[in-house]
Amino acid sequence: MAQEAARPLEAGAQEKIYEEFDHRIVPPSWQDRVWSAEEYKRFHAETVKDKAAIEAFWAEWAEKLPWFKKWDKVLDDSNPPFYRWFVGGETNLAYLAVDWQIKQGRKHKVAFIWEGEPWDEVKREPKEVRKITYHDLYRESNRLAFALREKLRVRKGEVITLYLPMIPEMVYYMLAVQRLGAAHSIVFSGFSAQALAQRVLDAGSRIIVTADGLYRRGRVIPLKPMVDEAVRICAEKGHKVEHVIVVRRVGLENLAWEEERDLWHHRFVRGISRNVQVEPVPCSSEDFSFILYTSGTTGTPKGVQHSVGGYAVGVYASAKLIFDLNDEDVYWCTADVGWITGHSYVIYGPLMLGVTSVIYEGAPDYPAPDRWWSIIHRHGVTVFYTAPTAVRMLMKFPEEFVHRYDLSTLRIVNTVGEPINPEAFNWYFRNLGKEDIVASSCWWMTETGQMILAHTPGLGKIYPLKPGTNGFPIPGVDVEVVDDEGKPCPPGVRGHLVVTTPWPAMMMTIYKDPQRYIDTYWSRFKGKFCTSDFAVKDPDGYIWVLGRADDVLKIAGHRIGTAEVESAMVLHPAVAEAACVGRPDPVKGEVPVIFTVLRHGFMGEPELVDEIKQHLRKVIGPIVATDAVIVFVDNLPKTRSGKIMRRILRAVIHGQPLGDITTLEDGVAVEEATKAYQQIK
Ligand code: WTA
Repeated sequence: MAQEAARPLEAGAQEKIYEEFDHRIVPPSWQDRVWSAEEYKRFHAETVKDKAAIEAFWAEWAEKLPWFKKWDKVLDDSNPPFYRWFVGGETNLAYLAVDWQIKQGRKHKVAFIWEGEPWDEVKREPKEVRKITYHDLYRESNRLAFALREKLRVRKGEVITLYLPMIPEMVYYMLAVQRLGAAHSIVFSGFSAQALAQRVLDAGSRIIVTADGLYRRGRVIPLKPMVDEAVRICAEKGHKVEHVIVVRRVGLENLAWEEERDLWHHRFVRGISRNVQVEPVPCSSEDFSFILYTSGTTGTPKGVQHSVGGYAVGVYASAKLIFDLNDEDVYWCTADVGWITGHSYVIYGPLMLGVTSVIYEGAPDYPAPDRWWSIIHRHGVTVFYTAPTAVRMLMKFPEEFVHRYDLSTLRIVNTVGEPINPEAFNWYFRNLGKEDIVASSCWWMTETGQMILAHTPGLGKIYPLKPGTNGFPIPGVDVEVVDDEGKPCPPGVRGHLVVTTPWPAMMMTIYKDPQRYIDTYWSRFKGKFCTSDFAVKDPDGYIWVLGRADDVLKIAGHRIGTAEVESAMVLHPAVAEAACVGRPDPVKGEVPVIFTVLRHGFMGEPELVDEIKQHLRKVIGPIVATDAVIVFVDNLPKTRSGKIMRRILRAVIHGQPLGDITTLEDGVAVEEATKAYQQIK
């Protein structure tokens, strides 16, 4: 698969995105709890001034958690980039999330208010709302841990794949797996059978947990048949999936069933006492708690491997600092657990802080575009964490949809996943927050495990907000915007965002591929973690992340590599070659445009476009297929050595100058691509 280096920076590119929006906002109820950017920067600088300061900062947070065995060393940096946190310590994520909460008196506190998607049109209310207490979590996850251990011999270190919708069982299985010291690999339920198979193979899972199907926008989408197909693909490649556990969610009939392999979840736990207890297995800080596959610049997703101890501390501290969660809060993060945001800030962070959270199963606009606002109103949500793409989708509807509801409980609203455009920020700041909330765009990645750039009201003070910015790094971790040589960029000059200090929830490695970990993140800028994001600092030092610098797209906040799309394309019998680039989109952030060369004998007809999109749906999933724009061309622009020049295709899409084309093999391909693209548009 042809690959390109990160997009080159134009020398001294000026990114004055912030100028137009450079107004500082202090929400009225924070007037007496505000510090200036300068004051915050001075405070922050102290926490990262040297290794001792960094260690002291994170040790203070780690002290707040219970450890089965306390650590000997906060940070071992003797073998970079394999930083080790809380060396010698032992704990368990399920213990922190559940048992510890019960010990602190939260036994009967509601951990999750779960709301299913189905809607009762007559009563005008959701058909299912369940309140799940910490004690419920304890019981369910203990029973499951018992069943997994006794019936399927699950042991420490094993990786179990979870391919589930947003139902309570997702939480129970995650916690059961953690209890046993095993690890989960969660695959987003919108991924296809092939994408699932690829991840199961890499993780080597012998157990997959799924559901018969899921609800999405009022429709039933079958899930179990996808798993059957994935298992078949795995078998072809010589890997046997021994057990598929199936949660009955939608009541699909006539499911194909393999008696030897398939198990209903309700039968799996039947007969196991609700009082059964499974001791949480002590895990060393550096055991791994989960892997989560994410996209990079190659066709194969990377298994990002996270730790136990460092992950727990980083997620706990960041959730507290950024969401300022307290016992009386009702917190709601709208992310699917299939992504890192769901791992850290739907499940582990909020549970470790013992709060009540909302989990909503379905689509934001079902049965109407006011569903989310009704959830905030009905459950009294105080802290809300969502994605810019959802805000942009919902702000297209009349404001009346929002104003029907009392959203005055909200005090913090944050976004994640892609830059928030100031218009969307202003819309939600005004309509959801009545201009008196802390609103922050929290920057982080699957790899960072925890949020890195954001406002930190949990410190008791905030620096002024600015629409569209990511603000400053949280204390204890530092970042920089650097040029191609790794030197800091002056304010206003676009550069690469790098993280310059280790932080606790940082990924440990890429699963089974440490060399790729070094190459991908640590080889470009010596001693600094390369995020592959472009960013710019404004004159006050606020950071504005501008988007990916590599061939990774964010489609509605979902992270997909263009190489994955291209690999999928060439699996279609009509496709000879394909090059995928992102096009900015006012709602989705980015949509994939795929320049496609057909094999001889195929014509670029509308039916073929549909067929190719179906194919993409099958190979990757609807995330890519729904918005893909297919552009047929006879040739792709290539260098003389045969590399596809995506940079030129990007320029075509943006209607920008082509830049340096001396290495281009044949100018005709560019003209052709431009013409074909114009016609589609
Ligand atoms: C982008 C999501 C701007 C960025 C947690 C990063 C953001 C990628 C923001 C990681 C933000 C995430 N502002 N861009 N607040 N948050 N990104 O791994 O390009 O799915 O590299 O993790 O999302 O995506 P991932």
